[in-house]
Amino acid sequence: APIEAPDLTLCGEATVTDTYHVYCCPPTSEKIIDFTPPSFKKLRFRPAAHLVTDDYLVKFKTALQKMKDLPDDDPRSFKSQAEVHCAYCNGAYDQVGFPDQNLQVHFSWLFQPFHRFYLYFYERILGTLIDDPEFAIPFWNWDTPDGMPIPAIYNDPSSPLYDSKRNVAHLPPVPADLDFNGTDRGLTAEEQIQSNLKSMYRQMVSNSKTASLFHGEAYRAGDAPSPGMGSIENIPHTPIHRWVGDPREDNGEDMGNFYSAGRDPLFYAHHGNVDRMWALWKQLPGKKRTDFTDTDWLDSSFVFYDENKNLIRCKVRDCLETKTLGYAYQPVDIPWLKSKP
Ligand code: C2O
Repeated sequence: APIEAPDLTLCGEATVTDTYHVYCCPPTSEKIIDFTPPSFKKLRFRPAAHLVTDDYLVKFKTALQKMKDLPDDDPRSFKSQAEVHCAYCNGAYDQVGFPDQNLQVHFSWLFQPFHRFYLYFYERILGTLIDDPEFAIPFWNWDTPDGMPIPAIYNDPSSPLYDSKRNVAHLPPVPADLDFNGTDRGLTAEEQIQSNLKSMYRQMVSNSKTASLFHGEAYRAGDAPSPGMGSIENIPHTPIHRWVGDPREDNGEDMGNFYSAGRDPLFYAHHGNVDRMWALWKQLPGKKRTDFTDTDWLDSSFVFYDENKNLIRCKVRDCLETKTLGYAYQPVDIPWLKSKP
């Protein structure tokens, strides 16, 4: 059977380490509405963060500042949005019907769909705050040479996009290490770029020929959490989190730990590109790559608060195509397609 959306009334403390627990539960709601795909006139285009225009940046900063200015207990506030990740990822929820099993949206086939919906609602909230239904969040284009450093727009200390809890040795123009394992490898920028492009080819093409290799292992009602992650979750998703996180902090805050990752605005751009990889994977030239058809996957569900503070229950089957959700990614070069190791 599919994993059911958590019961918010049973949300408890989240675990960061054995000795460090935090409370990151969302408000509860009497009413839960089933998701219906949005109607829209025009697709929203998510731009590459290193290529945005000045006009776009003004809009994005305004929207994010408004989100940060909402009261903390508003489920649309930036603080609440960050806590969504903490609650779903650090064991604050049990699986419905299985009080002995934590719910965990990483390390399994729930990884891509969960984060796609999470970003979708985050984007809708931002768009509503500036009254622009066509507003779309940027993505961190770490799979192309010019996009590999932390995008400059996130590195301005006076901007709402900034977060001080990042590794100061990894600020722009240093290209991200997509295979980062905790230690800097001392590569030149050019060596790093070539290594990254090869990893991208490996993870997107060679290592992801089937739905379970790409998405992760099956995770069904009653199963223990974390059956196994997919290629992109493994690399470069997780290494980039660790590469950005601040080693001066106890737990790699912000990006380097699940409970705090959503506090860095860069998180949502990072996951924009992770989500873009799902869309690209299904369109790789000359390769037939398809999602699972297993109803235990398609009917798995999550709950999120939307732009009107309504609690929405979403099923995986509703998020398989970005266009159903009203958005697409700015078309940019895909240099790693030519980087077969
Ligand atoms: Cu939910 Cu990038 O982790």
